[in-house]
Amino acid sequence: MIYISQIKNIKSIEERNVYPYNIPSIAKLNGLTLQKSVTFIVGDNGSGKSTLIEAIAINAGFNPEGGTRNFNFQTKESHSSLFNNLKLIRSPYREKDGFFLRAESFYNVATAIEQYGVQYHYGGSLHERSHGESFLALVKNRFSGNGLYILDEPESALSVANQLSLLVMMKELVDKNSQFIIATHSPILMAYPNADIYDVTDNGLNLINYEDTEHYKLIKYFINNYHIMIQELGLS
Ligand SMILES: Nc1ncnc2c1ncn2[C@@H]1O[C@H](COP(=O)(O)OP(=O)(O)OP(=O)(O)O)[C@@H](O)[C@H]1O
Ligand SMILES: [Mg+2]
Repeated sequence: MIYISQIKNIKSIEERNVYPYNIPSIAKLNGLTLQKSVTFIVGDNGSGKSTLIEAIAINAGFNPEGGTRNFNFQTKESHSSLFNNLKLIRSPYREKDGFFLRAESFYNVATAIEQYGVQYHYGGSLHERSHGESFLALVKNRFSGNGLYILDEPESALSVANQLSLLVMMKELVDKNSQFIIATHSPILMAYPNADIYDVTDNGLNLINYEDTEHYKLIKYFINNYHIMIQELGLS
C-alpha cells in the first residue's frame, strides 16, 4: 500500500548558504515519487538522508524526534525548516498505524513510552532490554500493519542475523498494507525485493539498482578481498 505517493517542493529556495539548503542534495531536491511499498534512501554520511526523512515525517504528522503521532516530547529544537518547503501527496486511503524511528533518539522514545505509561503496547519497558532487543520488540509488538513506517538507520541496533529477521517482519507488514520509507547504510536491508532505492548525492536523489549501490559494491569487494584491502589500507 502506498500512503505517501509523492513529495513536492512548494517554495523556491532563498537561503542557499544555511542549513538545510547548504546541503547539495537538499538544494537540488526536486520532488520525489514513492511508488513502492518500500523505499530506501541511501547515501554517504552527511549526504542529507536524515534531514530529508525527518522533514517527510514531520509533514506526515510525526514528532520530529520520533514515536507515534501521539508523541509530543521534545528534548531539543534541532529539526530543519525543510518540512515547510515540502508537501506530501497522499493516497485516499489513510494509514491506521504509524511510527517514526530515528536510531539517534531511540533512547528518548523509550523514555517517553514509559512516561506515557504505554509500555504494555511494546511488550514491556524498552529500557530494560538491549538496544537491538528493544528495537525488535518495538517492531514485533507495536507495528500492527496498515501502517506508515518511517525509519532512520534501523540497522544500527541490529546484528546481521536480526537484520534478516527485520526483512521478514517488513514483508509481513507490507503484506498487511504497510508502507516503509527507510534511510539506511545496510546492504542487507536494501536487498528487500521490489523496493525503490534513491541514492542521495551532490546531484540530488536518483533511483539506483541495488547492485550499483556503493554499499553493495564495497561490502562485496571487502568480503571477497579483505586480505588485499587490509593491506591497501596499510594495516598489515
Ligand atoms: N541541526 C543542524 N544544523 C546544521 N547543520 C546540520 C544539522 N543537522 C545536520 N546538519 C548538516 O547537514 C548535513 C546532512 O546531515 P544529515 O544528518 O541529513 O546526513 P545523513 O545523510 O543522515 O548522514 P548519516 O549517514 O551520517 O546519518 C551534514 O553535513 C550535517 O553536518
Ligand atoms: Mg542520518
